[in-house]
Amino acid sequence: MSTAAKRTVAVAEAAEGARKGSRGVVIRTPIPGPKGKTVVEQDTQYLMTSTKTAPVVAQSGKGVWVTDVDGNRFLDFTSGVGVLGTGHCHPTVVQAVQKQAQELMHFAGTDFYYEIQVRLAEKLAKIAPGKNPKKVFFTNSGAESVEAALKLARWNTQRPLTLGLIGSFHGRTMGALTLTSSKPAQRRRFNAFAGGGVHIPAPTCYRCPYKLEYPSCDLHCVKILEELYFNTVLPPEEIAAFVGEPVIGEGGYVVPPKDYFQAMQKVLKPHGILHVSDEVQAGMGRTGKWWAIENFGVVPDMITTAKALGSGMPIGATVFDAKLDYTYQGAHSNTYGGNAVACASSLATFEVFEKEHLLENATKQGNYLLKRLKELQGKYDCIGDVRGLGLMVATDFVKDRRTREHASKLRDRVETEAYLRGLVLLGCGRSAIRFIPALIVKEAEIDEAVEIYDQSIGAALKAVGAS
Ligand SMILES: Cc1ncc(COP(=O)(O)O)c(C=O)c1O
Repeated sequence: MSTAAKRTVAVAEAAEGARKGSRGVVIRTPIPGPKGKTVVEQDTQYLMTSTKTAPVVAQSGKGVWVTDVDGNRFLDFTSGVGVLGTGHCHPTVVQAVQKQAQELMHFAGTDFYYEIQVRLAEKLAKIAPGKNPKKVFFTNSGAESVEAALKLARWNTQRPLTLGLIGSFHGRTMGALTLTSSKPAQRRRFNAFAGGGVHIPAPTCYRCPYKLEYPSCDLHCVKILEELYFNTVLPPEEIAAFVGEPVIGEGGYVVPPKDYFQAMQKVLKPHGILHVSDEVQAGMGRTGKWWAIENFGVVPDMITTAKALGSGMPIGATVFDAKLDYTYQGAHSNTYGGNAVACASSLATFEVFEKEHLLENATKQGNYLLKRLKELQGKYDCIGDVRGLGLMVATDFVKDRRTREHASKLRDRVETEAYLRGLVLLGCGRSAIRFIPALIVKEAEIDEAVEIYDQSIGAALKAVGAS
């Protein structure tokens, strides 16, 4: 059979599978359909090459559902890469955005004043962990929040280096990129070493870089910092901050051991090294707490957030211990940070979280999702690991459960088979697929997603084997 014919058969099988198992997913055309195909072609012509994953061309969204330009209805378990905590187009958020857009869109919140920005900063300061008073700098993205944290850390400590974990992601602007290290493509040719970023191995226990096992390892990956690095290549008095994701996101949805950050702070604090918790992906309720670092019982000096903070409006923030604030004007600022419409969207997001108990739902549905995916792990040897915290969950594909060798090709194929059947997913790390539905997700929607995922793994195994 020719490749085109094979593809037609795969599409037909996928559509048939989607029809059989479906409760909400509707697949009417190959993906992309005829209208979608035109958009994909034009996108390829006019847009810079970036990180495209699947040819799903969205027309509208509601809750965890996305309808494409050809009338296909998908279950979205990416929520715009963790942005849509409240789901697509939550009516409370939409209304707040519309109202604010009619009143005041923008007034440069760094140069002048408006109340809605103060109200949002107050909210963030109050929910930040720790008793010390907090202050907030508003940004437009995750990377910009990290940049602001790096600058604040350097300004305060007047130290040149920042410490990160191998496999972490912190953004793609040059400052953040000095610490981003989840894929070689992110760093290659950029001379990403310009900003004084240094890395140590991360607590990736499933594939421990030291081939040890938790807890008998005694957190060697933390202890080695003091024992080896600080006594050789890394003078601690030159390190401004340690920047860590409380759950490593792009790098594979890795949940560090419970006592990891406590042990890390014990090493950092005596040397005056600040702790920045990068919560751009893991924060804003995703793990069942406002901030993922709260799961680890420590208080960081700064938190960076973005993504779910605005339910789709671009807004980020760096929340920091007030004593770290600049002592004169002009050291740092921006134009759009704390934009009035974005602030309105964010305040409405908090309202929805509280009224609809989304932190509780993240824990409840996250546990349910984890359990359902572990059932699949019982069925498929190629799922080596199922891990996560709250609604930040992943399955890791392996060639062999004993060696844990990454099954990257299989992972990619599962992703494809899933969107062909109406389930939109994203990979992470070298061989994992992440599940980050909106925090409003219901059990029935998880059941439908897992059913499609099951069919997709079966189809992918047939197509490429455990490779
Ligand atoms: C932990 C973390 N930090 C920073 C960023 C960068 O955010 P943005 O893409 O909004 O710049 C991301 C994006 O995925 C992230 O996951």
